[in-house]
Amino acid sequence: MEAVVKVGEVLGAERLIRIVNAHISGISYRNIGDEGLEFLKSLAEKGARFSVPTTVNPAGMDLSKWKEMGVTEEFAIKQLEILDALRFMGAKLALTCTPYRYIKIRFGDHLAWSESSAVLYANSILGARTNRDGGPLALFEGLVGSAPLVGMHLSESRVPTVVYDLSNLRSECNMVSELGYFIGRAEKRGVPAIINLPKNFSEIKNLKLFLASIGTSSGIAMVLIQGISPEFKEDYLKGLDVVKPMKSDLVEIRESFFTKDGVVVLGCPHLSPEEIAELANKLKDSRVTKRMILFTSRDAAKLARNQIKLLQERGVDVFFDTCMVVTDLKNMGIKDVVVDSAKAAYYLQSQGYNVSLMSREEALEYACEGN
Ligand code: F3S
Repeated sequence: MEAVVKVGEVLGAERLIRIVNAHISGISYRNIGDEGLEFLKSLAEKGARFSVPTTVNPAGMDLSKWKEMGVTEEFAIKQLEILDALRFMGAKLALTCTPYRYIKIRFGDHLAWSESSAVLYANSILGARTNRDGGPLALFEGLVGSAPLVGMHLSESRVPTVVYDLSNLRSECNMVSELGYFIGRAEKRGVPAIINLPKNFSEIKNLKLFLASIGTSSGIAMVLIQGISPEFKEDYLKGLDVVKPMKSDLVEIRESFFTKDGVVVLGCPHLSPEEIAELANKLKDSRVTKRMILFTSRDAAKLARNQIKLLQERGVDVFFDTCMVVTDLKNMGIKDVVVDSAKAAYYLQSQGYNVSLMSREEALEYACEGN
């Protein structure tokens, strides 16, 4: 409570607000190491318990197939200790960055979430209210059940600051990740309003990629999308600067990621059961000629069991509980990757991988080349 109050004081919050849910990122042993593990263990031993439903982000390995991922026994033991401490405190080990797909979040709910892609989804698509909290702060907020009443918790912060008119891109809906990355990089903060959407932009899979990519190149926590965001209002746009991205802006981003050949890695953010079903449907009559790996959650697996089986029969690897960024793909002998997410592209490139960024459709075509 002292930590939450102190953060609130620094940010100028008048008071705390009750939250209904917390979601904690940064729980991979690869990210938090022994210090993070010891900290979580000490909290659990002292009797700390979450006072609101709390979920957690992907861990550093698939909990059942970690050996297949080249994870060492030492790493696996430490990762399991981290998860044990979180479970002991009452967290649900969803191990996904898409908690909104599996728990009921209502319009106006106050949350304490620390996964940027999920924060953008909650604020922009669901009309829930959360800041982009750091992992430790979201953990503390989950324990005390409150968050400082600042930022995205306040109505006055949830109005547009700039307009992005996408009318020049109407037919360029195959670069949603690049578009999100472009807007984030240009704005860095604020609440962009997005109008005149390209076709297909409103499909959930594209919104997820778009929002995750904005969150990667900026500190933005919310966008207001015409026809999609429940808080979008035309009246708000009057007098704001209008930016009209060109196709060349997006091509420049795509071209900043290039590798000649690579393993196709999809699932950033985690694939939903619907996306898995779509992939299975697209690949059911194809031969997958490249190595292909998908990342999703166990909750998704329960809802798409048959489709995952079909994909595995096509030679596609499917891993749960983790993702391409928080695990270490090098342990699987991978150096070069093809992704459809600018978030994955950015973080994997910064980890030293050679990366190509494509649309999902292009990545699938690439995976089946030579058929
Ligand atoms: Fe999720 Fe990992 Fe991407 S946590 S948003 S799949 S970097």
